Amino acid sequence: MAKDLSKSRDQLIRAAKRAMKNAYAPFSHFRVGAALLTSKGETFVGCNVENSSYGMTNCAERTAIFSAVAKSGPKLNIKAIAVVNDQDIPCSPCGACRQVIYEFGPEAIVFFKSSEGWKQSPITELLPEGFRLQ
Ligand code: THU
Repeated sequence: MAKDLSKSRDQLIRAAKRAMKNAYAPFSHFRVGAALLTSKGETFVGCNVENSSYGMTNCAERTAIFSAVAKSGPKLNIKAIAVVNDQDIPCSPCGACRQVIYEFGPEAIVFFKSSEGWKQSPITELLPEGFRLQ
């Protein structure tokens, strides 16, 4: 792994673990944290926020992305994003989050725990043929 990317990875994982502590997960009891690095070098974090109406749940990855847009504007370009969970089990971004990551980071690298340990994958590998309107 490139040296600068492994440093980013470690920093993102640390930030994601801190954000994970704020998760609102009374239904699944599965706390997730995410942290993303923008091409400007800023970091934004998110956690999962569940709801009594289960389908309204927002994953940690999308929380981080929406928070980044709210704070820094719509020109967000995600360079890398890390996702962690409190059970330390394999957890890659869900399909909906993959599409949202792709929207703001068609070249983003995703760090996640796979069944074979930590993995880094380009979003285009996790989401081939991602949808774009422009
Ligand atoms: N979850 C995330 O926040 N990110 C993922 O990548 C996988 C799933 C959350 C959604 C829900 O609150 C809980 O994990 C169980 O599905």
